[in-house]
Amino acid sequence: MDPLLAWRPLFPSVDQTLYMISHSLGAMPARSRDRLVEYADHWTSRSIRAWEEGWWSMPVSVGDLVARIIGAGPGEVVMQPNVSIATWIVLSCFDWTGRRNKLVTEELNFPTNLYIFGEWERLGARVMRVSSPDDMTMPVESMLAAIDEETQLVSVSHVLFRSSYIQDLAAIASKAHAVGAMVVADIYQSAGSVPVDVRELGLDFATGGSVKWLCGGPGAGYLYVRPDLVTKLRPRLTGWMAHRAPFAFQEPPIDMADTMFRFLHGTPAIPALYAAMSGYEIIVEIGVERIREKSLRQTARLIELAEEAGIAVRSPRNPAERGGVVVLDVPHGSEVTQELLRRDVLVDHRPGAGIRVAPHFYTRDEELAETVRHIVEIRERHLATA
Ligand SMILES: Cc1ncc(COP(=O)(O)O)c(C=O)c1O
Repeated sequence: MDPLLAWRPLFPSVDQTLYMISHSLGAMPARSRDRLVEYADHWTSRSIRAWEEGWWSMPVSVGDLVARIIGAGPGEVVMQPNVSIATWIVLSCFDWTGRRNKLVTEELNFPTNLYIFGEWERLGARVMRVSSPDDMTMPVESMLAAIDEETQLVSVSHVLFRSSYIQDLAAIASKAHAVGAMVVADIYQSAGSVPVDVRELGLDFATGGSVKWLCGGPGAGYLYVRPDLVTKLRPRLTGWMAHRAPFAFQEPPIDMADTMFRFLHGTPAIPALYAAMSGYEIIVEIGVERIREKSLRQTARLIELAEEAGIAVRSPRNPAERGGVVVLDVPHGSEVTQELLRRDVLVDHRPGAGIRVAPHFYTRDEELAETVRHIVEIRERHLATA
């Protein structure tokens, strides 16, 4: 018996399809619907009073739930609309016009971060994109070699979205700190699937979101900032909610809050925060260690099944280097994926990588073989007609 299947009935959509896409969109917990109804009821019955009865503090109170998943303490995480905004906030804390203006990152970082860094080049940043030897891994030595005394910030993905390769964040943070640089890690593809402890890893900032492994839906990104840095930083991306006394409506310049409110800007997306909470609560209840244990077992099985079927695997075989996704490199992967979706086998395809397949805590073992069987069938049909 798989004890984690006890949570499966809380996710009605996983019975309607072969749900192997939690790296892209985690299944919706049934309780999220109740939470959205609660939001609507609160808005109706409490009207403007809802702000002081919880809405105003939600970016940090909901952040406290995320904090429990990523090893942060209460008051150390603030909710944001998405990673893109969180990344912008982090970059906007630094002066990029001096000698220390290098931003080190990996070429396999998620494009939103790379696009943002590209635009910061217009503001003085010198972006160094460390290359991958195989479009799948990022040797830690190459990352370490790129970090030097001119580095201001290192931006690194914990788990690479393309291949599910896990990077050695502790080693990267340690090198960065040794030369006086800071580290922002994008933990979107690890949090909720691979254990993350922002303190143990020595991160200065972490960004992520809730759409994937956290089963929290869109609009609920988050930002962790190392507590001793909070009052030392002054984000240029700001707004009235970051003011120490926002309702005093004082003249500029802004007098910034000493809490994580300092990293807010405008009115937060309250409904998204209601929707996101149930996913976090379930992940906390199960525990990421147990999710990881099951994920390692099921991803190993998927690799085995793929190899038996002659499908090339584009994710690390070494469990210590592998996140929650297995990437399968099937010829005509994009067309095969379209057919899989027509058959209600939910996976996705990334150019240059392959078909991404991801079990989560609610996945049954039988579904692994079923997924591979569909891929093989489609491949054979395709070969027969080619
Ligand atoms: C590693 C990673 N970072 C960021 C994002 C998305 O960024 P945003 O929250 O800005 O949409 C994704 C996926 O959509 C991702 O896989």
